[in-house]
Formats: sequence, C-alpha cells, structure tokens
Amino acid sequence: MRIADFALERYFARWEFAVRHVLCASDVEGWSMAELLALADDEARGLWDGLRLGYTESTGHPLLRAEIASLYETIGPDDVLVFAGAEEAIFCLVSVLVGPADHVVCTWPGYQSLYEVARSAGAKVSLHALREADGWSLEADRLARSIRPETRLVIVNAPHNPTGMLPTRDEWAAVVAACESVGAVLLADEVYRFLELDPADRLRAGADAYPAHGVSLGVMSKSFAMAGLRIGWLATHDHALLERCMALKDYTTICSSAPSEILALIGLRARETVIDRSRAIVAGNLVRIEALMESHADRFAWVPPRAGSVAFPRLLRGGPVDAFTARLVEAEGVLLIPASAFGFGGDHFRIGLGRTDLPEAVARLEAFLAREG
Ligand SMILES: Cc1ncc(COP(=O)(O)O)c(C=O)c1O
Repeated sequence: MRIADFALERYFARWEFAVRHVLCASDVEGWSMAELLALADDEARGLWDGLRLGYTESTGHPLLRAEIASLYETIGPDDVLVFAGAEEAIFCLVSVLVGPADHVVCTWPGYQSLYEVARSAGAKVSLHALREADGWSLEADRLARSIRPETRLVIVNAPHNPTGMLPTRDEWAAVVAACESVGAVLLADEVYRFLELDPADRLRAGADAYPAHGVSLGVMSKSFAMAGLRIGWLATHDHALLERCMALKDYTTICSSAPSEILALIGLRARETVIDRSRAIVAGNLVRIEALMESHADRFAWVPPRAGSVAFPRLLRGGPVDAFTARLVEAEGVLLIPASAFGFGGDHFRIGLGRTDLPEAVARLEAFLAREG
C-alpha cells in the first residue's frame, strides 16, 4: 500500500512531547486512571478487578457495544463495531468501500485520513472546501451538487476539525437527502459530538438520520477526554458494510485492548459527568481565546467555533504563519499548528480549546506577541 504522509501526525510526532504547551491539541485534557475508576459502578468495577488479559471479542465487549449503542436513537449493540480509535475505523471503512471506479466527497480542510485513504485506494476524491468568507459554513447545496451517480462515499466531519463548523439541521437534512438520492454511504465523523456550544444545536447522528447507509464515527478521545484508551467505533444499520469492516480488522488489530474496553465502558456509563467536565473546560478556554482575539484584533481574525474543541484563526501580520509558529515554539515552547499541516494555503492556524494549561500557554503567547511588536 502506498499512501502520502499524514502531515499533521508527522508534525505532532516532531513536537507534541518536546514542547511545554500544546496549544493546538484537538483532544480534551485526559482523565487520570484514579479519577476514572472512582466513577465505576459495581458491575464495571468487578469487571476491572477480575479482568484477564486475554484476547477480547473482535466486535467489541458486548457491554461496551450496548453502552455505545445507547448514545444513538435507533442503534442497537449489533449495529456497533469497536476499533482502536477513530483512526482504525476510518482506515477500515474507507478501504473496504472505495476503489478506482468510485467517487468520494469529503469536507476540507480536515483530518487527512478522511480523504487520503480513499486517494490511496485510487478513488477520485472531491474536497468540499469550507470557506472562511462564508463563516466556514457547510454550504450543503454546493456539497450536494458535487455528488454524482458514481459517488460511493460522502464524508462530513461535524463538529468540524479545524474550523468548529456545525451544519444547521436543514443543511444536515440536505446532505442526507443528497446521499440517499444516489445511494451513497454517508460517513458522519462525529468525534466532537456533544461539544456543541449550544446543546440545542446538536444534530441527529448520521446513523440515525440515514438508516440505509449512514455511518456514525465516534471515539473516546475528544468529547470523552480519554484519547489514551484508543477506543473508537462505527455505528450503522448497514450490516453488510460492517461485516466487511470486521473482516479487514482481522488484518489490523483483530480486537481491542482488554483494559481499554472496560475503562471506556466506565467512562461511557458516567457520560454525563465526563461530558460536563469536557464542556466546562472548553467553555472556560473559549472565553480566554475570545479575549485574546479581541485584544489582538490587528493581529488575528477568526470565525468563532459553533462546536468542538478547536478553532482556525488567521494571522493578519507577522507571517507567513509557518515562520510565526516556528518562532513561537522556539521562544516559548508553545505549539500551534500552521494551516500547511492541513495542506491548506494561507495564514490560518489551529488552536485547541481542550487543555487545562491553556491560560498559561496563552500568557506565554501574549508575552511573545508583545516582544514581536
Ligand atoms: C475529525 C477527526 N476524526 C478522527 C480523528 C482520529 O481520532 P483518534 O486519534 O482518536 O483515532 C481525529 C483526531 O484528531 C479527528 O480530528
């Protein structure tokens, strides 16, 4: 298999564990084991204490699948397949679904594997560019017009990394209708679901909104703040597709990590507490970033996010942004991601709203800005 380097992950590989502050992370500050185990109910605590480190069920622990299913309106445990993170789920789904004869539409800029795996399989990929001038909105009608009879897969990441875009209900319905019209699979990458600024804006999950071929992608890493578990999942009523994913998983991880499955079960059963904590961290950090943007309006422009744990501001002076982020990390050990890591032109950069050291990181950024003048 030949596939282009994952630019963002290569960038993180160089910097993530070598800097003082990761001010561009997309995950939420991870839970400690002690705090998480304190949330366990008696059944889950018993599973944890009595856990044997053998192989696990390839589809995922039955109790974990049931818990995941309860995140959705119409999904049952048999409609869920557990993976090692969202990343493995993306790889398996796209690999089994598309080939050289197929056309794929994917929101962009975005998480590279969402379109790169399809490209490496030889599919023709249309990137649906979100535009800052349109407030990063989805522009569902434009997206619908790019869907063709040979479109096999439409991939929409919402809440969106890196812009914080969240479609309106009408836009979401229009995307589903467009997929239905050609029988395309809709991969709804919902890894930032539950982090809508206004919970009333939360969309119906893709798997619920499009029973024939809607696939919801979820993970413990973002809204649930447990990236180190490496537990993700696909949820769909399309069992033929799920079975093909399961068969490919035999060549990737076979089954999930036994401890991670139980810890994910504990986290999902306590999801109100878990999500409240994530939402509070992001909301507090957003206030701090709004103040930064306001007090440096001559330096930064931005469209505030509607959802998720990241935003995509633009540098107005002191660029190009790659040089700016390089100077910042060198001087202060504060890491931002330039747009080039998304293959996106211009002077945007991603800022992360999920880490508890954000106030300190922003103070260092401001000291740096003061020196740059
Ligand atoms: C939109 C999107 N999808 C999928 C993933 C992959 O998630 P994980 O690293 O937990 O597998 C990410 C991670 O940043 C993401 O931003």
